[in-house]
Amino acid sequence: MPARPIQISPSMMCADFLHLEEEVRLLEAHGVEWLHIDVMDGHYVPNFTLGIDYCRALAGATRIPFDVHLMIEHPERHIEAFCALPGARVTFHPETVYQPVRLIERIRELGASPGFAIDPAQPVEQFRHLIPLVDQVLVMTVNPGYAGQKLIPHCLKKITEVRDFLKRESLTADIEVDGNVSWDNIPKMIDAGADILVVGTSSLFEKHRARQQSLRDLRSLLETARLAAPERQAM
Ligand code: DX5
Ligand code: ZN
Repeated sequence: MPARPIQISPSMMCADFLHLEEEVRLLEAHGVEWLHIDVMDGHYVPNFTLGIDYCRALAGATRIPFDVHLMIEHPERHIEAFCALPGARVTFHPETVYQPVRLIERIRELGASPGFAIDPAQPVEQFRHLIPLVDQVLVMTVNPGYAGQKLIPHCLKKITEVRDFLKRESLTADIEVDGNVSWDNIPKMIDAGADILVVGTSSLFEKHRARQQSLRDLRSLLETARLAAPERQAM
C-alpha cells in the first residue's frame, strides 16, 4: 500500500489579509489540501482571531475544504455554524466542553469531520477513548493562542505516541501538527508520524520570501521527508 502523501494546511491567520484572494488563488494553484482556520475567543486562549463571518466569506471564494481549529470555550454552542462550512473538518480542545464524545457525535451528525486537539501539557494516554472516534488528532507543538512561537520539544514524542496508538489499534485517523512547523522542524515532524502540517509564519508565510517559491520548496521538502521516513514506508 503506497505511503500516504503529507498534506498541507496553511494557517490563514498568518496570511496577508489585505491580499487574501491572491493568497487563496495561489494556494489553489498549488493544490493545498486544507485551509487552517484558527478561531480564538479571548477566553480559552488570551487572543482573538478569525470568526464565522470570515469563514463564510472565504468559503464563498474557494473550494479548498476548511480545517477549523476551535480554541473557544463551549464550542458546542457554535458547532452548527462551523459544521455548515463546505467539506469542513472541525477540531476542538476536549477540556473546553463537558461531554467531548457527544460533541464528536454531533459534528458527524451535522455532516462534518470531527477532530480533537491535544495541548502540550496533556498526555496522549488521557485521550485513548477519544482517538478511535475521530478523523483527526491535532498535536499542538506550541501553546495554543499565537503564531510565531517556538516548538515545545517534548511534543515531537507525542506525535509518535499517537502514531503508535493508531497502529496498535489499526486506526486510520490523520495526525495533524500545529505550531512552529518550520523548514527545520518539518522533517522531524514527518519522521515522528505527522500526516497534515499546519504551515504558518515559520515556513509558508515566512516574511521576505516569495510565496510561490515557499510553496514549491514546501512540496519538495515534504516529498523528500516522506520518502526518507521509514515509519511511513511501513504504514
Ligand atoms: C496557534 C495556532 C497556529 C498558528 C501557527 O495557536 O493554532 O495555527 O497560527 O503559526 P506558526 O506556524 O507561526 O507557529
Ligand atoms: Zn491552529
